[in-house]
Amino acid sequence: FQPGLLQGKRVLITAGPTFEAIDAVRGIINLSSGKMGYALAQAALEAGAEVTLISGPVCLTSPVVKKFIPITSANDMFTAVKNEVAFNDIFISVAAVADYRPAIAHTQKIKKSDNTMVLELVPNPDILQYVASLPTPPFCVGFAAETEDIDQNAENKRRKKKLPLLVANLAQEAMGANDSTLILFDDKGKHTLPKAPKIDQARRLIEHIATIYKQHPN
Ligand code: PMT
Repeated sequence: FQPGLLQGKRVLITAGPTFEAIDAVRGIINLSSGKMGYALAQAALEAGAEVTLISGPVCLTSPVVKKFIPITSANDMFTAVKNEVAFNDIFISVAAVADYRPAIAHTQKIKKSDNTMVLELVPNPDILQYVASLPTPPFCVGFAAETEDIDQNAENKRRKKKLPLLVANLAQEAMGANDSTLILFDDKGKHTLPKAPKIDQARRLIEHIATIYKQHPN
């Protein structure tokens, strides 16, 4: 795409999974490798943006962004986003944030026994919903990994979170993979980016974001 497409714009991206501790050695994690979020950070840099990347635990090397913030849990990610959001024009929420965390994170390792165990979970904050509801939010782009009924689930999420753009993908195809198919939902309808390497999808998506952002910055 045109270099300089996002020149002077500040882009905040969340990527990867969040890890929710059960005890000192165990936890709950989503199946996100961080590849899509890191590809978007790379594409935003190529477009001339100043990028802040907030990332859950992944095995990838970050592109050379302005600020890289490693986090572990959804609450850590929420704190980091709240600290950074006011300095950004565009927020792209690619992270697979755990919707729940264990009610108690034991500091010691829980001893194994033959008994059945019940794990109590409490809801995590919805980071994207918080950002999109701010009095002057950045331009918000959400992602949705669905296993079925992509169109309906994605449009519902877009409306519920009042997002100008939501990017849907099939969880079983996209999570951890090098390639993905992206389906974009915005005010003009639905637009599919056929299966391709994530870096190519990221460049196409950044181009799409830049176009809509220019039309309505918020
Ligand atoms: O990392 P990869 O292996 O490359 O895989 C990429 C991906 C499949 C993880 C990515 O493309 C993707 O789809 N990310 C969103 C995962 C998802 O299912 O999100 P969700 O439907 O739970 O949430 C919808 C949106 O709200 C997302 O933008 C999410 O970042 C955000 N959210 C969700 C829950 C929460 N507590 N806080 C949030 O901000």
